[in-house]
Amino acid sequence: MPQTNTFIDFAGGLPAKAARQATLDAARYTSRDFMQREWDGMWTRNWLLAGLECDVREPGDYFVFDIGRESIIVTRTDEGALSAVYNACQHRGNRILTNERGSVTAIACPYHGWTYELDGALKTVPDAERFSQGLPCESLSLKPVQVDHWAGMVWINMDMEAGPLSEFLGVVQDLVAPYRCEDMTLVGDQTVCLDANWKTCIDNFNEQYHVDFIHPQHASFVDCCNASNELWPYGHRRVLVEGYVTNPRYGVPDEVPPILQAAIRPLGLDPADFKGRVSDIRKAVQQRKRDVGAALGFDYSGFTDEQVSDVLQYDLFPNVIMTIKPEELWVMRPRPHPTDPDKCFFDKWTLRISVSADAARGLSLVGDPMAPPANAGDRPAHEVFTQEDVIAGNNSMTITIDQDIHLLRDMQAGMHSRGFSRAWLNEDESRVQHFHDWLDMWLDGGPMWRRAADAQAAE
Ligand code: FES
Ligand SMILES: [Fe+2]
Repeated sequence: MPQTNTFIDFAGGLPAKAARQATLDAARYTSRDFMQREWDGMWTRNWLLAGLECDVREPGDYFVFDIGRESIIVTRTDEGALSAVYNACQHRGNRILTNERGSVTAIACPYHGWTYELDGALKTVPDAERFSQGLPCESLSLKPVQVDHWAGMVWINMDMEAGPLSEFLGVVQDLVAPYRCEDMTLVGDQTVCLDANWKTCIDNFNEQYHVDFIHPQHASFVDCCNASNELWPYGHRRVLVEGYVTNPRYGVPDEVPPILQAAIRPLGLDPADFKGRVSDIRKAVQQRKRDVGAALGFDYSGFTDEQVSDVLQYDLFPNVIMTIKPEELWVMRPRPHPTDPDKCFFDKWTLRISVSADAARGLSLVGDPMAPPANAGDRPAHEVFTQEDVIAGNNSMTITIDQDIHLLRDMQAGMHSRGFSRAWLNEDESRVQHFHDWLDMWLDGGPMWRRAADAQAAE
């Protein structure tokens, strides 16, 4: 069975299919003009993943979200609400906070000492009497953006007229709810600076056509060639890939491949029992995880069998990639560089459930039973490194992502060639096409299209 592609409209009738098919020409990835169109038409009007709620739990906690040339401060106010404001002082425009995150009692500009409340309201101005024209709080408070939260993540929207986050996420919210991402603990925080456009990065994570060639190890533990692709409104996508199986393209081996052995041992399954019946492993894991979960204190009853064993990836427009299993979530996010279309920052957060392993019995739901469980008390440091660091083996985002990173620079370089004009996609690259179709929708005036549809519906 080849990969399948299904368009799924949102309840209420918002169609999944975009108005027209985008052309993936080289300039889309390399030109400053296209980068500016994206900024004006899409980044400044879309809901964007700004950061994690765990970084703004207590009043006074803040983090800074840098996106393109813009910088946004997200805080937890004294009243316990989330607030998000532009990181630009209303005195003369200084970027106020330059640390990634921390805790403050007020937002204080280091230049001339203006301070703002945690929600951005102007608080104190040194030598206030010297402002003979007055200091109107309404116009001199930090400028707000929309903020909301979902699944343990904080989202912002610079368009104050944009519809709510819940409408934007639609059915994704119900589908992700069983994973209780908000209860997971951050165990890894990494950013790699890449010599590639942010969309080169998105495209890479939106097709499995390349898997056999640059991730040969995948054939031993997932079935990428029969993936199901789902295409939603607003350009969101999902792919379902069966786990704990071998790729049928190569026939089922008699012996359990080493990677699959390592995956099932912590569940207390003996690879020797599956000699000659490797294709039974997936079903066995579905049952076994529920039993081990009961023993270790993790409840799988809210998950379907497919969710227990398989890998699901949610690609939320524009730049969020969530690879999710009941035990672990990767949230990946390529962010555009402020000025250079040939660069981006690729963030990866790793979150895990906090259940103890049973080292005595060799049982664990998250791999090595000797590894310490996720501990909510210790936030991991943010590791920042370059593509060269990954290629040199100094830093890793897991073997699979490292393999992708090796290639992305060459993709970006090739697109600058006089000998390349546009991409030519196949059916298994449907998520790539869908993403670009909806990007064009935004660049063609997407929000207006949405509002026009709303206005029509209201008539
Ligand atoms: S620019 Fe911030 S106080 Fe002057
Ligand atoms: Fe890949």
